[in-house]
Amino acid sequence: MAKLLVKNIGVLQTPVGSYAHKGSEQGENLKLYNAAVLAEDGLIKAITADGQLPCSEEEVDTVIDAEGNLVTPGLVEGHTHLVFGGYRQNEIPLKLKGAGYLDILRAGGGIMDTVRKTREATFEELYDKTEGFLDEMMGLGVTTCEAKSGYGIDLETEVKLLEVLKKLNEDHPMDIVSTFMPAHVVLPEYKGKEEEFIQLCIDEMMPYVKEKGLAEFIDIFTEDSVFDKEQSRVYLEAAREMGYGLKIHADEIEAIGGSVLAGEMKATSAEHLIVIDDEGMASLAKGGTVAMLLPATSFYLGATFAPARRMIDEFGVPVAMASDFNPGSCPSLNLQFTMNLGYLKYRMTPEEILTAVTINPAAGIGREKTVGTLEVGKQADMVIWNAPNMEMLCYRFGSNLALQTIKKGELV
Ligand code: NIG
Ligand code: FE
Repeated sequence: MAKLLVKNIGVLQTPVGSYAHKGSEQGENLKLYNAAVLAEDGLIKAITADGQLPCSEEEVDTVIDAEGNLVTPGLVEGHTHLVFGGYRQNEIPLKLKGAGYLDILRAGGGIMDTVRKTREATFEELYDKTEGFLDEMMGLGVTTCEAKSGYGIDLETEVKLLEVLKKLNEDHPMDIVSTFMPAHVVLPEYKGKEEEFIQLCIDEMMPYVKEKGLAEFIDIFTEDSVFDKEQSRVYLEAAREMGYGLKIHADEIEAIGGSVLAGEMKATSAEHLIVIDDEGMASLAKGGTVAMLLPATSFYLGATFAPARRMIDEFGVPVAMASDFNPGSCPSLNLQFTMNLGYLKYRMTPEEILTAVTINPAAGIGREKTVGTLEVGKQADMVIWNAPNMEMLCYRFGSNLALQTIKKGELV
């Protein structure tokens, strides 16, 4: 019965409720001053405020003094492409000369370059590299993360990536939610024959991965020069039949109907949404789909920023924010930077931002019942910040403000 007490919390700030928060509720956080949290066997047992302690210090195994700092739920990272071979720093000079993301991809670079390097990498190499990323993320305050395959494209390599994630989910304190994404790029041999590739995914890949229990979600890159709306619909309908949760990379560069489709299919989440239009936002609201916004990718691509304010104020779409960590469009896994961008570029409030990196991404990856808020009975995942409040956390950037990360009631 391991017991941990965090005392002397200046302010404990958290969204409340195990569901995606939208509209004005996105900006509602509970704030308890001079608070304490008791964790027992990995779960939150009690939360107190105003200098009260839930038990005496002698009763617990570990006491942590938060020294008057801010404590929030552990951050939930809702969108990463975590397992990949090599890097793509060679693309920067091309970008600086004016090449766009899709130009590089159409010329056989971009994602295809990473596919080649990932196929060459061994299980052990990928395991070690990904483990390093998970350590880095935890040090930055992340306690649960989603991770996609999508750099193998053939079944064998895709399975290798998902096996790496499965093993790390067992070995590493991070909770990992896996997403299968074979439709991430069109291989040269399937150019003009995209339907054939979609059928291969449906007939061979999806059933195998499902049977082996290697992924909960499916994802597809619905984009100009990649997969169109109808191909995506066929793929997602089949995946839904097999029991996968649905995700769509939609409206990242060109709006070709991905977000409309996401809402129509009641996808769990829709990703990017940089160039989403009103029809897309209305569809997401109707479908109850979480908007998984990735502002660090906008920053890195030099693109515009998704209309987060309108999603919250006009359409009532629940907004989550994630890093999109990957070797091409966002080589940063720092979710704190994402929060800074949410403040400055999306003009979200610190309360809305906290919701967007905790309970809303938790709902976007099917974990809203167990993580994403600090409430009795939920996992004792929390972060003690080197900041007195959320305003400071959203304002300071470029430093790591996470002082201590606690996962299932243990310091990590
Ligand atoms: O979400 N857009 C597609 N997938 C990733 C980028 C992957 C890559 O460039 O390697 C994204 O931005
Ligand atoms: Fe992505």
